[in-house]
Amino acid sequence: MNVLKNCLLLYVLMLVGFSACDQPKKQYSDWRVYGGSHENLKYSDLDQIDTTNVTALQPAWIYHSENNDKTRFGPIESNSIIIDGTLYGVSPKMKLFAVDAATGKEKWVFNPADSVTNKTWHRSSVNMNRGVSYWEEGEDKRIIYTVGPIVFEVNAVTGKLVPSFGKDGGIDLSIGLGRDEKTVSIAPTSPVAVYKNIFIVSGLVGDETPGHIRGFDVKTGEQKWIFHTIPWPGEPGYETWEDTAAYKHMGSTNAWSGFSLDEKRGIVFAGTGNPTNDMYGGERLGDGLYANCVLAIDAMTGKLRWHFQTVHHDVWDMDISSPPVCVTVEREGKKIDAVAQTTKTGFVFVFERETGKPLFPIEERPVLTNTPIRGEKLSPTQPFPVIPEPFARQKLTVNDLNTLVDDSAEIRQRFLSFRSEGIFTPPTKEGTIILPGYDGGGEWGGPAVDPHTNILYVNANEMAWVLNIVENKSDELPFNTNLEAGKSLYSLHCMSCHGPERLGAGNYPSIIGVEKKYTAAKFNELLSTGRRMMPGFNHLTSQEKNAITSFILDLKTEQSKKYTGKTPEQTTNANPGFGFTGYNKFLTKQGYPAISPPWGTLNAIDLNTGKYVWQIPLGEYEELKQKGIPTTGRENYGGPVVTAGGLIFIAATADGKFRAINKSNGKILFETELPAPGVATPSVYMVNGKQYVVIACGGSKWGGTQSDAYVAFALPDKK
Ligand code: HEC
Repeated sequence: MNVLKNCLLLYVLMLVGFSACDQPKKQYSDWRVYGGSHENLKYSDLDQIDTTNVTALQPAWIYHSENNDKTRFGPIESNSIIIDGTLYGVSPKMKLFAVDAATGKEKWVFNPADSVTNKTWHRSSVNMNRGVSYWEEGEDKRIIYTVGPIVFEVNAVTGKLVPSFGKDGGIDLSIGLGRDEKTVSIAPTSPVAVYKNIFIVSGLVGDETPGHIRGFDVKTGEQKWIFHTIPWPGEPGYETWEDTAAYKHMGSTNAWSGFSLDEKRGIVFAGTGNPTNDMYGGERLGDGLYANCVLAIDAMTGKLRWHFQTVHHDVWDMDISSPPVCVTVEREGKKIDAVAQTTKTGFVFVFERETGKPLFPIEERPVLTNTPIRGEKLSPTQPFPVIPEPFARQKLTVNDLNTLVDDSAEIRQRFLSFRSEGIFTPPTKEGTIILPGYDGGGEWGGPAVDPHTNILYVNANEMAWVLNIVENKSDELPFNTNLEAGKSLYSLHCMSCHGPERLGAGNYPSIIGVEKKYTAAKFNELLSTGRRMMPGFNHLTSQEKNAITSFILDLKTEQSKKYTGKTPEQTTNANPGFGFTGYNKFLTKQGYPAISPPWGTLNAIDLNTGKYVWQIPLGEYEELKQKGIPTTGRENYGGPVVTAGGLIFIAATADGKFRAINKSNGKILFETELPAPGVATPSVYMVNGKQYVVIACGGSKWGGTQSDAYVAFALPDKK
């Protein structure tokens, strides 16, 4: 960028009221880290593509990461990184690939299924992967990525495993958690954070696996430190669990959405999920630190610097779903290093980075505690930021129902049978409305922040879900047959996703008819390993798995045999008094959200003042648009990026569009159809003087089109 252009930029910024002298220098012009930078800003200094020319944007290349293989793909949630002209990403089947970032031409592919000599490999599930990490020392350049429980290190130039790392190039994260490694189930979905020669990881975990955060030596794979997200005796926070043995058997409280890093201070930041048994807390009474917390941890030692719990005793699945973003906000003319945390509940929490002191007031407000569920004890208060206002509705009333459809009387009637008293309404057997829903508000895509203006851009869902609690019957115990045991184990372990009638719901598939697809052996294997967003069930005994298999595959002879395994009562966490019937969206008969629009939004919030700059509906239904209905917004997963060119790039929506939006007013400037919905966050980079924006288009989250494509957009070459 030449000096003249710089001056012009400063002049323009002065005109709109920003102080010109504190312009950060161009430090965000590459995309070497998940989310664009250690701060996780999803911001790019590049401005070749801008508000005046973005309409000319066109695909520069398309890379088919599974070679156009037409067998089942999943969504690709991966945010690519670009190192010195090479783009690294992950295919729907978890292969790591390197392509020329200017042309999309393949350089190499690493297929974990072929390459692994690690004997733990057979226990690995093929899982979701949101991106990879990079480390270098001189000529030693490595990609660090996870598949199931294995962390691999692959030579970034050759695509071959780095044999000196761990055992033959991999380490097994099942080891070192302080639990029997044969019973744990762990599979990180978000990339590790890299600080000096340490990488930091937590993971998606099974219900019986603690989500502890760990630091490992990048070179050797040796575990250097562990931070217990479920504290052990003698550690601070241990007293917040009424069950003094929770540290031995409780699971989850994991930082599944990854990390941001203050490299200068050596602090790693994470957000954690709720403890095991998402919707019933009767067997984990207390606030349960460090669940649902923003955590600041010393990256070198694993020592906790500070924490803030965003939901006490969570029984609504209100995980923190993205790491906090490192920002520098202004307060009374002073610059303060801070972190900003968006949540599924639709809140934005802002804390001073070093101390965790709130930078907007947060009030502990009384909430409903009148739970009808035996053994449950809800927290009498919850934290509410006073500003900014929540970016998603937090209460569904009879006035907020969908009236665009002809069955609105039916919707109203169904609604009136539910309990709906706003955020933190106690769960019930008859049905409690969860709004913001299990997928937000904000989700794993997280927000983007422009460091020059401190405006935060966050996309959100506005979908109401219905939570029905069910009592796990123990009066049928002990079981006589495999069938009896299988049915009961199904409701304990599988119903929450696949539903009481096995029909699935939302993001979870129906498993009716799977007996035609699976042999008993293959089915057992699936139960052990899990697949993508289905966790593994390693902690179940072979008798338990066998009983479930006989029930689901309808194996009559096996079903009638005597059940010889443990009764659910003898298992640990696995038998809470209560479960829930599944992740059910509150929908109209035609499948639209039963809440009134908007159903998806993009929000611009000024972190200096806490005020909204704008909010727009994000995404649309073509058939409603045809009828002249104003843009409704749609469900969306995957985040935005913001650039110095005045643009926000975002895909995310179920309508499969990729959009460029004017960051100053929310106006959509460019829109194009992707091969399949881009359920991912774009990356922005430059090679040979040309700016690119790349998005992974896996689709399939909503059962529609699927693809293996990564599409890179750029401006056409000047003739
Ligand atoms: C946390 C949610 C969750 C739980 C709990 C869960 N599943 Fe799944 N299951 C999924 C998802 C998601 C998929 C789709 C995986 C994919 O993308 O390939 C799936 C896939 C399956 C499939 C394959 C369907 C097919 O058409 O190939 C079977 C069979 C299955 N699950 C059975 C079970 C059983 C039995 C249990 C209990 C032991 C269980 N699941 C527990 C989420 C879950």
